[in-house]
Amino acid sequence: MNYDVKDLGLAESGKKRIEWADKDMSVLRLIRERFASEKPLSGVRISACLHVTSETANLMRTLKAGGADVVLCASNPLSTQDSVAASLVKDYNIPVFAIKDEDEETYYRHINAALDHHPKITMDDGADLISTLHAERADQLSEVVGGTEETTTGVIRLKSMAEQGVLHYPIIAVNDAQTKYLFDNRYGTGQSTIDGILRATNILIAGKTFVLSGYGWCGRGIAMRAKGMGANVVIIEADPLRALEAVMDGYRVMPSIEAAMIADIWVTVTGDIHVIDEKHFKVMKDGAIICNSGHFNVEINIPALEAMSESRKEVRDFTEEFLIKDGRRIYLLADGRLVNLAAAEGHPASVMDMSFANQAFSVEHILKEAEKMENTVYPVPAAIDQNIAWLKLDSMNIKIDKLTDEQEKYLHSWEMGT
Ligand code: ADE
Repeated sequence: MNYDVKDLGLAESGKKRIEWADKDMSVLRLIRERFASEKPLSGVRISACLHVTSETANLMRTLKAGGADVVLCASNPLSTQDSVAASLVKDYNIPVFAIKDEDEETYYRHINAALDHHPKITMDDGADLISTLHAERADQLSEVVGGTEETTTGVIRLKSMAEQGVLHYPIIAVNDAQTKYLFDNRYGTGQSTIDGILRATNILIAGKTFVLSGYGWCGRGIAMRAKGMGANVVIIEADPLRALEAVMDGYRVMPSIEAAMIADIWVTVTGDIHVIDEKHFKVMKDGAIICNSGHFNVEINIPALEAMSESRKEVRDFTEEFLIKDGRRIYLLADGRLVNLAAAEGHPASVMDMSFANQAFSVEHILKEAEKMENTVYPVPAAIDQNIAWLKLDSMNIKIDKLTDEQEKYLHSWEMGT
């Protein structure tokens, strides 16, 4: 078997982590059990480009149980858990191409290794696999019947490909399922971003001015958790509706240049480029901490910060000090990459359970429906989304009311008024 991981000797600890995560992935486990008996993915070649974590390992196990022939590569150079990668190869016989802190050349070599698998289905988190396939290996496009995309940034890229008429096969936007973004983006990013900041710095959040760029579902989750830990939260948001929501959720909202002057900690989660830029670095306080939880490392203009700095040095794992020429210090976490996955372990298994249940069901759906699908971006079918919510509630042993016939009827009628 072809693979490229850091060290197979790490497999034992990786296996323990995978099993620990599996305990909290009850919906995925149910799917795995059914897949194992029905084999709906029999012989289907899947290339997955995802963060290589213990949660992802359980998704890979599930696809394999369904009969799929899977390979996995990393969707970010800094998010791989090397022990998990080793265990997937050694204990589960799943080829993995991922090494934490790989350089860009290795990152793309690994993506190409996953494409050498000649997938029938692609699975992306950020759309790097699919864009490499379209840009560099177009001869393979006819072999693919469909793909899935895990995250907001990837869905934006794929919708732009579809709009430009260059997308060659249908995609299901897993990110846009309610059982994904309401939980993974909000509670997952909320908790794991704070986790990453704390592991990298061990600072006290209470009393700090915590600035957050972007008030989408991820931003809401981070703001909520920072507030809960006693921070003064400031939101920067270019969309008027979201800005208004942030105001009424109880946060201060202001332009980035004003927030830059008061930030103790500044987190970006916008999906856009140069959100923290030279003009901000010029006015930031000595000792300010900056980091990113958006998919790509473009949100902080690191070259501009470097150009303004006399020196750059690591002061703790995942924390670098930039000494600005005027004597101020700015601390950058995780090299501007996803702080929650680089400095911590990403979202907890309990939310990834629903995200990856959407992935597994979506693959099954594509295989059944591919011929009827067009080369565009589709939502996860509502029935799948609802089913996952039911299964998750059930696994948590939470019962809810069923509407009476009278109530159902009332909800669908217009005749009855005051
Ligand atoms: N994205 C965010 N957290 C993740 C995790 N734990 N596993 C895979 N992808 C993730």
